[in-house]
Amino acid sequence: MSGINYSEKIPNNVNLVGDRTLQRALEHWQPHFLDWWRGMGPADFQGADVYLRTAVSVDADGWAQYGAVKMPDYRWGIFLADAVPSRTIHFGDNIGQPVWQQVPGEHRSTLRRLIVTQGDTEPASVEQQRLLGHTCPSLYDLRNLFQVNVEEGRHLWAMVYLLHAYFGRDGREEAEELLARHSGDADKPRILSTFNEPISDWLSFYCFTYFTDRDGKYQLKSLAESAFDPLSRTCRFMLTEEAHHMFVGETGIGRVVKRTLEVMKELGTDDPAKIRAHGAVDLPLLQKYLNFWCSSSLDLFGSEISSNAAANFASGLKGRPDEASYDDHVLRDKTLDLETPKGVEKVPMLNALNEVMRESYLKDCEIGLKRWNRAIERAGQSFRLTLPSPHFRRSIGSWVGLPVTPQGKLISQDEYAKRIGEWIPTEADKAFVRSLMKRVAEPGKIAGWVAPPERGINNLPVDYEYVKLH
Ligand SMILES: [Fe+2]
Ligand SMILES: [Fe+2]
Repeated sequence: MSGINYSEKIPNNVNLVGDRTLQRALEHWQPHFLDWWRGMGPADFQGADVYLRTAVSVDADGWAQYGAVKMPDYRWGIFLADAVPSRTIHFGDNIGQPVWQQVPGEHRSTLRRLIVTQGDTEPASVEQQRLLGHTCPSLYDLRNLFQVNVEEGRHLWAMVYLLHAYFGRDGREEAEELLARHSGDADKPRILSTFNEPISDWLSFYCFTYFTDRDGKYQLKSLAESAFDPLSRTCRFMLTEEAHHMFVGETGIGRVVKRTLEVMKELGTDDPAKIRAHGAVDLPLLQKYLNFWCSSSLDLFGSEISSNAAANFASGLKGRPDEASYDDHVLRDKTLDLETPKGVEKVPMLNALNEVMRESYLKDCEIGLKRWNRAIERAGQSFRLTLPSPHFRRSIGSWVGLPVTPQGKLISQDEYAKRIGEWIPTEADKAFVRSLMKRVAEPGKIAGWVAPPERGINNLPVDYEYVKLH
């Protein structure tokens, strides 16, 4: 099942040649995708040779090939993880029934919406990041940016394949719309607000890949549980690629911390002004970026209490991430104590699944913080990075618009307005970070605000010419 035919226009392991109608429809969409890539993808680097990973199969060992590619020539393909023989629905009200190979009529519009919402985030992030190449801190980072970008492009392909293959004409129309909406566009913005935030500096890029790509991981994990088997198989393979995106975020922030600690040691101070004057990111500033991107990404999980989440779970469309790790997979008799502004409320577990997902996401977010804090502790510094309270800066759910501090304390609107600049980047902070963003594009060289990576890509040295700019 995992053999790929590379002589085909669209590499795939879904036997596209066996379905001429579908193949033609996707070959018709392909030039539209390429137009979008050239117009909205990484600006000014389409002719560069980039050392990229390309998915070529779904085999656990050896699913990717590495080599220099011009991005518009990247082989975006369609890959589904191998089918699990006689897989059955393993959560919700239809436990034990066979999974669906076609979309059941009654779930058609909900499934389409889930796929379109996921699909929309993929090209959105490419658009958000399209100018970052101009200010890369190293060729290694530039390559990682482009790797993330082409893979988000492939994730778009993955969702478009499902739309074309299983949703007929509506699906084809949705596939066109995925290229027509644009991040931050006043008339046709992307669906979710985080994906309309500009990413104009690399500190934001590292935070985005750490927090927002991790939201992607959790959404993919929950869709990988789906009773709609093609969606499950698609998402399972996407997760393989997604791991690298979070690696870019975790190591990126880790390298910022490392460089800052070096500067602090060199100057013998933790004074932010002095650290900034030396061209590094002080830890309180980094904390503001973490607060911003973490809180923004938390909104992506939706309202704490959600009848949609309950219905999607009950009908088997969307499970919890790592569903198998739970005991109860029906949840009809379970409740959850939910912290609301009015106090603790008991809500049916089924309706609180967005919150369950948000909690497991936050646990995953803690892993990097522990690592960064260990480095800070080892350097003898007392500062500790933290995650903001999930009630901080919410624009959805029961805490929406409430003046809550990153420590989770409800304060007055006045005080909140006065202090918000202590918690998320101010215009001056952003201007400072922008001032650090100068392109470094010589092999082995690195910008002064971030430490070099510990190792290169695919066993190559750190000073390898990962992008040949010509
Ligand atoms: Fe993605
Ligand atoms: Fe991603």
